[in-house]
Amino acid sequence: MRSPSAKIGQKLRLAFIGCGGISELHIKTLQKFADVEIVGGADLNPERLEVMKNKYGFTKLYKDYHEMLKELKPAAVSVCTPNGVHAPATIAALAAGAHVITEKPMAMTPRECQDMIDAAKKANKKLVAGFQYRYHPATQMLKRARDAGEFGNIMFVKCQALRRRGIPNWGVFGQKHLQGGGPMIDIGVHVIEMAHYVMGSPRPIAASGKTWTYMGNKPSDVASQWPNWDWKTYTVEDLAIGQIRFENGALMQIEAAFAAHIEKDVWNFSLVGDKGGCNWDPPALFADHFGTMINSKPAFIADGNFDFLFQQKLRNFVDGCLTGSALEAPGEAGMAVQKILDGVYRSSDAGGKEVGIE
Ligand SMILES: NC(=O)c1ccc[n+]([C@@H]2O[C@H](COP(=O)([O-])OP(=O)(O)OC[C@H]3O[C@@H](n4cnc5c(N)ncnc54)[C@H](O)[C@@H]3O)[C@@H](O)[C@H]2O)c1
Repeated sequence: MRSPSAKIGQKLRLAFIGCGGISELHIKTLQKFADVEIVGGADLNPERLEVMKNKYGFTKLYKDYHEMLKELKPAAVSVCTPNGVHAPATIAALAAGAHVITEKPMAMTPRECQDMIDAAKKANKKLVAGFQYRYHPATQMLKRARDAGEFGNIMFVKCQALRRRGIPNWGVFGQKHLQGGGPMIDIGVHVIEMAHYVMGSPRPIAASGKTWTYMGNKPSDVASQWPNWDWKTYTVEDLAIGQIRFENGALMQIEAAFAAHIEKDVWNFSLVGDKGGCNWDPPALFADHFGTMINSKPAFIADGNFDFLFQQKLRNFVDGCLTGSALEAPGEAGMAVQKILDGVYRSSDAGGKEVGIE
């Protein structure tokens, strides 16, 4: 697969910072792109560098990403580290002259996002937040419905990223100082990014919310998909509930959990406007037609699996780098979502009082 407007034979020389779990999906996707050459990677963990060498045949591998940037001079970098490294790695890569896609969430705080956006402007390079759910066929269908005025004035959106018991037992997902938070920033971010995109990206102005930690910081003998997480280092929330007010008067409610006593996992947003409403999973539109309340469901909708979503998000980044085509999730989109996440955490720190979002 190649960008239609890229010059024949042109290849984007791309390197990785962070070679853990998600980098492998990036690699498998990018290896199918004829206009990308993966030139190397950096990871603090030598075992991950061994995986890169043995599984993917990479030879230019580094412990220190600064050294990699200096020696390989990649044209683009994919940042796949824990959240706390997104900003410093992105800023270093931009300063070294590379375009950057950084995995979600864009960073740990809006301040870090702003520093990244400023660094991209200074270097005159592309910066992309690695959101993929906006490419999902259901999200695209609902975005088109919104653009066509199907919902009218959007008043309320409810976002849910809820796991009954899904505390990650790998990486550093339980450590607040390395991740910035728990389920709100790790999985809530996915549903928020697609809902905010379907809403037409209104400006958030205030947040209220609360977080609770009651399970992840204790040992557990309950059978679950990912048992034996590192409860001793667990400092993030198990459950976060937030509410966002937008400049246009709309409200967004957010529910995110790694662990909660609910019937089953939920991954969905639903939206209510004054003309119509919708649901993401299962995708459906709700409106009044012909004097009747009608629920419309797609007769067919393409499969939005991870292979497809990563192919879309990486294709958009690579095209943007090679041809200057429009980016679907530039740094500014990452920033808007980060302000929402940050607002909920700040409100929780303030005892649940509403806090302003600038
Ligand atoms: N888009 C998605 O659906 C999706 C899915 C999973 C993870 N992610 C995101 O990807 C990022 C990584 O998650 P993961 O599951 O791959 O975690 P992981 O723990 O498997 O991998 C992270 C890697 O980064 C390395 N690392 C840490 N600090 C580093 C540094 N200073 N320099 C170089 N390497 C460093 C670690 O050694 C590790 O190998 C996170 O931000 C996460 O939110 C996104």
